[in-house]
Order: sequence, then structure tokens, then C-alpha cells
Amino acid sequence: MEFELLNKERHAVRTFDGVKIPTDTIKEILMDAHLAPSGMNIQSWHFVIVEDKNKLAALLEEVKPQNRKQIEEAGAVVVLFGDQDLVARSLEMGEFEEDELKKERLMTRYPLMFEGFSEEYLNTYLSISTGLVTMNLMYVIKNRGYEGNIILEFNRTSKINEILDVDMRYRPELIIPFGASLDTGEASFRFPSERVIEVR
Ligand SMILES: Cc1cc2nc3c(=O)[nH]c(=O)nc-3n(C[C@H](O)[C@H](O)[C@H](O)COP(=O)(O)O)c2cc1C
Repeated sequence: MEFELLNKERHAVRTFDGVKIPTDTIKEILMDAHLAPSGMNIQSWHFVIVEDKNKLAALLEEVKPQNRKQIEEAGAVVVLFGDQDLVARSLEMGEFEEDELKKERLMTRYPLMFEGFSEEYLNTYLSISTGLVTMNLMYVIKNRGYEGNIILEFNRTSKINEILDVDMRYRPELIIPFGASLDTGEASFRFPSERVIEVR
């Protein structure tokens, strides 16, 4: 779909037809979203596709009641995590790097820098990267003919890691339900330009 149209026609959609999307298709969608930019290209996101019925039921218990139905009906449920161990991530990325200069950066310089991050700065880093990859994901979902939504309102605690058996280094950020839907959502209010743009 042409980008301007995609941007205008993407809306939050919270009802789905309940038909499961094949895992391989979900993975393709996530790998397209994974092209998002990130600070130092650290790609701090970690996607968990939830398919197991018992795990999904336990996850729903951690979601605010008003948000449950959209997850139950979705053709795919992805829990997006942020990697809190950027030092380890940089070292892991270094293993993939063949260019010696870049490898050195990933294996020594970046880890030292990440080690110096305050809790607040790490939080900012993860939150911004989460936002960027999520927006990419929403566009990819729409472009594939599906609809989707972003859910922040759930208990974003390590209980989610326990339920989904996910390493504690990853912190739960968002739940993204998506799937086929007859609903295409509707354009919601946006402030006029003079309210959100200043020229100095
Ligand atoms: C960070 C964030 C958190 C959100 N949390 C929820 C949520 O918990 N439940 C929900 O139904 N929608 C949630 N939404 C969807 C927003 O309500 C929706 O994107 C917003 O109203 C704008 O509408 P639009 O997406 O159709 O443009 C969230 C969106 C964002 C970006």
C-alpha cells in the first residue's frame, strides 16, 4: 500500500475474526518490523508469539478486563519485551560481525558505554526502541491486510516472564494483538498543526 494511504488508514482495531495466522506469517511480519532503527543499532526488542492456550489464558489474567476480548479474538498475539542487558546484547551482536573495527566496537566500546547507563537512561532507551519497532509493526500489519492494536494496560511485571517462560533479562513492554477483521477502525482526533508544531 502506498505509504500516505497506509498512514491515514491505520487505526487501532480491537475486534478480530478469531482465525489464527500461521506462525511463519507472523514471523515474517515481525522480521519486517525488526527493520526499525535503534540507538547504536542495539535492536533491544524481543518478540514472543503466544500460541499455547494455557499460557494465553494465564496472560489474560494479567491484562485489564477491558483489554481481554481483543486478545482472545486476535489471529496473533505478540508480547513485545525489551532487553535490559544491553552489554550482553552488544557482545552477542559482535559475534555476528565480520568487520574487525565494528566487531571491536561491539565487543569493547559499546559494552563499556552500556554499563554506564543509569536506570533512567536504560528505561528511556528501551522505551524509545519499543515505540519505534511497534510503529513499524503496526504499519507492516496493516500493509499485509490485517488490523491490530497496541496494549500497554496489563501488569507489566516479571509474572509475564514466568507465564511465558521468558528470560528475566527481558522486560514486558506491550502486547500487540492483530488479525483479520471486518472492522478497519476510524480516524481519531488529532490536534491541529498550530497546537503541536512551533517554529523558532
Ligand atoms: C503506548 C500506547 C498504549 C496503548 N494502550 C492501549 C491499551 O491498553 N488498550 C487499548 O485498547 N488501546 C491502547 N492503545 C491504542 C490507543 O488507544 C490508540 O492508538 C489511540 O487512541 C489512537 O488511535 P489510532 O491508533 O486509531 O490512531 C495504546 C496505544 C499506545 C501508543
